[in-house]
Amino acid sequence: MRLTVNSRQHDLDVEDEMPLLWVLRDVLGIHGPKYGCGIGQCGACTVHLDGVAVRSCQIAAADAVGAAITTIEGLGTPEAPHPVQTAWIVEQVAQCGYCQSGQIMQAASLLAEVPNPTDAEIDDAMSGNLCRCATYPRIRAAIRRASQ
Ligand code: FES
Repeated sequence: MRLTVNSRQHDLDVEDEMPLLWVLRDVLGIHGPKYGCGIGQCGACTVHLDGVAVRSCQIAAADAVGAAITTIEGLGTPEAPHPVQTAWIVEQVAQCGYCQSGQIMQAASLLAEVPNPTDAEIDDAMSGNLCRCATYPRIRAAIRRASQ
């Protein structure tokens, strides 16, 4: 199958049912999306499919054919980071960092849909992305900053 990841096309010999997260990490060596729970409960594996945040552990590879798959590696560049990435640095959000690529991808998807979210909208959109370091106040501050 052919998958398009971060604007690059990859012709892959993988099982249709292989979770997209496995394809990204183990086949393509793209390690930004993280394995946390594997059952769609933590958000560490969040990527974009056509700009919409999805849990890549719950998406079969075959279901991503034809979509633009974006991981944290493709969200911005070192020279031109995404506004959410810049806000994350300014607010020094990360602690251990494990969940943060998923948090950023979820936040970027939220702001693409709702440019100026309320606190309630932020909390609702981010409620499925867990952080064991409890960086939630800084996540919210960074999203507010990126929305300005
Ligand atoms: Fe996919 Fe937890 S690893 S939601």
